[in-house]
Amino acid sequence: MTGVQTAHLWLPYTQMQTAPAPLRAARTAGTRIILDDGRELIDAVSSWWTACHGYNHPHIVMAMEKQLHDMPHVMFGGLVHEPAERLAARLATILPGPLNRVFFADSGSVAVEVAMKMAVQYRLNRGDTGRTRFLSFRDGYHGDTLAAMSVTDPDEGMHALFKGYLPEQVIAPIPRDEESTAEFHRLVDAHADEIAGVIVEPLVQCAGGMKMHDADALKTIADATRDAGALLICDEIAVNFGRAGTLFAHTQAGVAPDIICLGKALTGGAINLAATVATADVFEAFLSENADDALMHGPTYMASPLACAAANASLDLFETEPRLQQVATIDAQLKRELAPVKDLPGVLDVRVKGAIGAVEVENLHDLDWLKAQFVDAGIWLRPFGNVIYTMPPFTVTPSELSVITGAISEILPRWAERAHDREKSSWDNG
Ligand SMILES: Cc1ncc(COP(=O)(O)O)c(C=O)c1O
Repeated sequence: MTGVQTAHLWLPYTQMQTAPAPLRAARTAGTRIILDDGRELIDAVSSWWTACHGYNHPHIVMAMEKQLHDMPHVMFGGLVHEPAERLAARLATILPGPLNRVFFADSGSVAVEVAMKMAVQYRLNRGDTGRTRFLSFRDGYHGDTLAAMSVTDPDEGMHALFKGYLPEQVIAPIPRDEESTAEFHRLVDAHADEIAGVIVEPLVQCAGGMKMHDADALKTIADATRDAGALLICDEIAVNFGRAGTLFAHTQAGVAPDIICLGKALTGGAINLAATVATADVFEAFLSENADDALMHGPTYMASPLACAAANASLDLFETEPRLQQVATIDAQLKRELAPVKDLPGVLDVRVKGAIGAVEVENLHDLDWLKAQFVDAGIWLRPFGNVIYTMPPFTVTPSELSVITGAISEILPRWAERAHDREKSSWDNG
């Protein structure tokens, strides 16, 4: 079969009438995506931030192959299995504090839905019916399902059309400076009695534009959440497993979430799996003689043995290979090589945190042209909003990373010139 057969596909985040034909991937290997036509692209975004060990790591492939033969899937209601038990025990060990009850899900959005349900029911089970709302943050993103959409930035987060249909949450600024801190505290105080939980992406709001905040901001959020008697939900789906420099980002602020959402790199990018992990205190609120106090949730493919085997193998790799050192090296190289980009025309800011490098521009015009330029340079990179960013596999070599940063530095001025030429010609034409 030749050509791109999209006649029956409905693609994500895509205006199907006008979008250019997508590229067709044939294989993956290491840090590369190999296209049908033989072109090889360095994946600068780790397949939506999942492939932290690169693709097809033999240790993960072997573990999955073995599991595929033993038991690819079995339902999780009334049955458990060794891969899930082992994974849950390992997560409970590597997560700090009393985060030790693991509820598996099949996607990050569902893990967020589960976290929100847990927070509301935690209160209901204790007879407190007044806390059914959430406080979340501008520029936040927590997924595309309805509850997750409701805590995502209502204006910038792709879901503005659904305003009025979604439950209305309290949306606060991240407390970065005096003004935003005052506004944050004002909103927490005003809604303290009705908030079940505060949900935040620790240190980096990724899909909202790679917006970064420091440990102090996260600490302010955690303290205010505690004072309001609400649960702190850290959504680490995008930054977990080293992406922001430590295995879990929130540990850099020393805060203690009541619930944490994990996903994306949990399986090293091999297969979908997510988890909502709660503290013993949260879990205990669901224990009683009353069946209605149980958590009524159970995705069909939750805790798939195949996915748990991949996640266990991924955790092995964090123990046996120097992933966090690799992240530190990437962080230093990104800082070094992206610093000059700050001075290019149209660039507002350059931000680096761990294995995340982001260039914020004034206005992301000619997006299709820009994406095609990166492909021509041998790179798979997906700018969005007004950021051009890289989140490479941690196994990216220094020279591959230089190809990525070099392409950003080289393509951006040409792209700015294009905008300038267009502006000039529209000016000349009247
Ligand atoms: C912080 C965060 N939470 C939740 C999600 C949703 O995860 P999924 O796409 O697996 O549903 C994402 C996805 O980008 C995310 O970045």
